[in-house]
Amino acid sequence: MTLDPKILSFEEVSKHNRKTDCWVIISGKVYDVTPFLDDHPGGDEILILATEKDATEDFEDVGHSQNAIDMMKDYYVGEVDSNTMP
Ligand code: HEM
Repeated sequence: MTLDPKILSFEEVSKHNRKTDCWVIISGKVYDVTPFLDDHPGGDEILILATEKDATEDFEDVGHSQNAIDMMKDYYVGEVDSNTMP
């Protein structure tokens, strides 16, 4: 059995915009990075600044390693409804 992904609006995702509750959008996918903030090699502030937007370019510009990409599944929440993106 496969579960349908959770579909979230941009507005809903954007509410999670702080240190205690931090969600980012990368390539249409939503990640709850709250438990990762203190461990992120790029720091917590940059992840908080990456909320309330499409952070795909920010993420790609860093040239994250395959190891970083592999970690993302641990924080996956669902998909953002592309029709709701600004
Ligand atoms: C570095 C993970 C999102 C900015 C890193 C590194 C990891 C990591 C493991 C160490 C270098 C590497 O392996 O590539 C993640 C994960 C993310 C995420 C799992 C999302 C789920 C972001 C976002 C930004 C960002 C949205 C926004 C710009 C950076 C920066 C570094 C970095 C600037 C370099 C730190 C340095 O070497 O000085 N990240 N990252 N990351 N990350 Fe992220």
